[in-house]
Amino acid sequence: MINKNNIKKTELGPSAMLNPVPVIMLSCRGTGKENSRGNIITLAWTGTVNSEPPMISVSVRKSRFSHQLITESGEFVVNLVDRKLLKACDFCGVKSGRETDKFTECKLTPYYCAELKYAPAILESPVSLLCKVKQQIELGSHDMFIAEIVSVKADSELIDSKGKLMMNKAGLAAYSHGEYYALSGPIGFFGFSVARPEVLKRRLRKK
Ligand SMILES: Cc1cc2nc3c(=O)[nH]c(=O)nc-3n(C[C@H](O)[C@H](O)[C@H](O)COP(=O)(O)O)c2cc1C
Repeated sequence: MINKNNIKKTELGPSAMLNPVPVIMLSCRGTGKENSRGNIITLAWTGTVNSEPPMISVSVRKSRFSHQLITESGEFVVNLVDRKLLKACDFCGVKSGRETDKFTECKLTPYYCAELKYAPAILESPVSLLCKVKQQIELGSHDMFIAEIVSVKADSELIDSKGKLMMNKAGLAAYSHGEYYALSGPIGFFGFSVARPEVLKRRLRKK
């Protein structure tokens, strides 16, 4: 039994301390003429919430220009971020689309897909998730949009000869407590704790 006085833990109070998280660039567009150019917002508060159908949540403050565009169109694209995109990703998280054309400023290319009517994807992103909003929930500081992922577009160079997505080659960035990180490489795989020795050998040799 551990003595309560020997537990070296510091009470930090309640806060949104989940780390690390992905950092993504959400692209969106309004439905009217006045918001007809695409916009990009950087988000860290996003997560997978369902697999059948595939669904994702994003939490956006009401004050963001993108909040208005997503509410208007009911669509957005979640673009995953690699090292090459990271500077643009940070820029899109400190400038508002109200004053800045972020696609132009960051030299990024919007592209449109048949699955969505309004929101463009970012061509330079290695993987883009096309989303249609199903629910909008007011939580307090942020509104959470829960959306169905209706299509995923991936760079063809990331697809192996068997048609499988090699996510390990995408060079994705993570975000932890105010800083961006590169992933250093796999340190295990789903089920490795109970894998048979020959599976362990094969899977770990591959890396
Ligand atoms: C790393 C990072 C993560 C962010 N995560 C969020 C988030 O999850 N939700 C949010 O509302 N704003 C988030 N922001 C802030 C918005 O990206 C920022 O206010 C942006 O300028 C809003 O753009 P807009 O007005 O064009 O929509 C984040 C910013 C950075 C740099």
